[in-house]
Amino acid sequence: MSNSAKLHEEAQKYTPGGVHTSIRNVDPFLVFTKAEGAYIYDADGNKYIDYQAAFGPFILGHNHPYVNGKVIEALGRTDLYGVGCTDLEVELARKITTHVPSAEQVLFCNSGSEATYHAIRLSRAVTGRTKLIKFQGCYHGWHDYVARNMLSAWDKIGTRDPGSAGMMDEAIDNTLVCTYNDLDDVERTLKANKGEVAALIVEPIPHNIGCIMPQPGFLQGLRDLCDAHGTLLIFDEVITGFRHNIGGFQKVAGVTPDLTTMGKAMANGFPIAAVAGKKPYMSRFNTQPGGDVWFAGTYNGHAVGTAASIATIEMMENEPVHEHIFRLGERMRTEIRGILDRLGIEAFVAGFGSVWTTYFMSFEPRNYTDLQYNDAQFYVTYRKKLIEKGIFKMPMNIKRNHISYSHTDKEVDITLEAVEAVLTEMSRGK
Ligand SMILES: Cc1ncc(COP(=O)(O)O)c(C=O)c1O
Repeated sequence: MSNSAKLHEEAQKYTPGGVHTSIRNVDPFLVFTKAEGAYIYDADGNKYIDYQAAFGPFILGHNHPYVNGKVIEALGRTDLYGVGCTDLEVELARKITTHVPSAEQVLFCNSGSEATYHAIRLSRAVTGRTKLIKFQGCYHGWHDYVARNMLSAWDKIGTRDPGSAGMMDEAIDNTLVCTYNDLDDVERTLKANKGEVAALIVEPIPHNIGCIMPQPGFLQGLRDLCDAHGTLLIFDEVITGFRHNIGGFQKVAGVTPDLTTMGKAMANGFPIAAVAGKKPYMSRFNTQPGGDVWFAGTYNGHAVGTAASIATIEMMENEPVHEHIFRLGERMRTEIRGILDRLGIEAFVAGFGSVWTTYFMSFEPRNYTDLQYNDAQFYVTYRKKLIEKGIFKMPMNIKRNHISYSHTDKEVDITLEAVEAVLTEMSRGK
């Protein structure tokens, strides 16, 4: 029995399924014991180039010395007080409001789910309305406001599809579901619920289903429709924020939402998240005397997360982080396309910047419905075979890969060689 299998067996005695987040229980099940730069190591000493990147936070690479150094330095003098504020919180808030266009003010919490919860509750307080629009396939966290119509079964697309037992009917039914990249659908939904929609929340690039790009004019169209209907526009930049640009994807797209949620890459793997937005809205939070929207958290602004985020953003300010990861992303996509062409395999290599995925289908998907045409079995088998060759990508359908600042051309070379070997073997059976 491998060390991973032994530890997994023991983990299941103490913890349901042995994992602490729903979709970590995958095959092959590995226990990881070490991480460094672009590499992760399992309990049996196997080494992998990591593209899963814990679903995206590791923009600089694992155990990044500059970030870790700043965290250790901060912990040598400060931690958490539960009263007043810290110098680190001020410094981080200054950086975020400087870089992110929609962030006139910002508040820190600990996870993306908290951030989306706060943004949505604020939008209800500001508008006096109840309903929310989200898109089929997008993920915004685990809470009742948003946990519906995520990775729906194909026959449940667009229907009432709560993600969990135990959710409140009122929450499920006040969240309306639209089709991504379909402005007519959004307009119809806003008109049918006139004066009732508090906010529309969107991943500017729905990375929770790989990489579906917004079609030209889609994000601006959402902005215009929200303005016309008095609905707040929330960009959930928990994945795209900092990964695609220091100012978020909103900077790339040139579309400014009312509220923005951020997490993941803002602190290179340390736990911190943020909700930001226009000052008149943000000042409704009760951190401001007289504010009437509750905002609290024992660990908000902890030195670990704030120091890590300052250090991560400093790296982006001072080094060519995005230039490097974008170049490697482009190289990966281009060379994988070349391999697929040579082997005559029908596929669409999707991606933006440091993120990519290879859908095994004949056209560019524009929304979750289109992804039914992806050959899921081929997609997952391909990933499992890559894991056997030391390339770690999440072995699940329609998941994305991430490149970090610690990846180099050497890791891309090794990956492309493995991709070619696996696809050559698999194309024989196709
Ligand atoms: C776009 C998006 N929003 C929100 C969340 C929730 O963040 P967290 O898992 O930190 O609660 C996630 C997590 O994957 C996400 O991808």
